[in-house]
Amino acid sequence: MKSFEWDDKYDVGVRRFNEQHMQLIKILNEVYVAMNDKQDKLAVAQILNNLLAYSKQHLVEEEACLKENKYPDYINHKNLHENFINKLTQFCNDFRSDKFSLHFEIAVFLKNWITNHIMIVDKEYTDFLHSKGIY
Ligand SMILES: [Fe+2]
Repeated sequence: MKSFEWDDKYDVGVRRFNEQHMQLIKILNEVYVAMNDKQDKLAVAQILNNLLAYSKQHLVEEEACLKENKYPDYINHKNLHENFINKLTQFCNDFRSDKFSLHFEIAVFLKNWITNHIMIVDKEYTDFLHSKGIY
């Protein structure tokens, strides 16, 4: 598994959210490292939990900003976040209860979701938030 780094293509035009996305990528890389090093299950589970906690915090903040500014696609955007949180919660639970040993699949899912969401769905709010003076 290759780690991945912040890139300009992830720039959503809002500094606060870029910083939070950088932090998400940082924790995701910690998941990669823990899996690659075959760190014990408890360590991997702990990092997955950190990723879940930080994702919740970030997504709630993003949703609050979109709602406050009456973003037209707010409901759909919020639903996509909720689906992700549900899936990640399921992964965390399965991992803890030994049902899950497919490390690679978790890592690929997380990477694809996070990068696609940022590059496709989040970028749709850039012009809208800029029009509200939010950079
Ligand atoms: Fe989002």
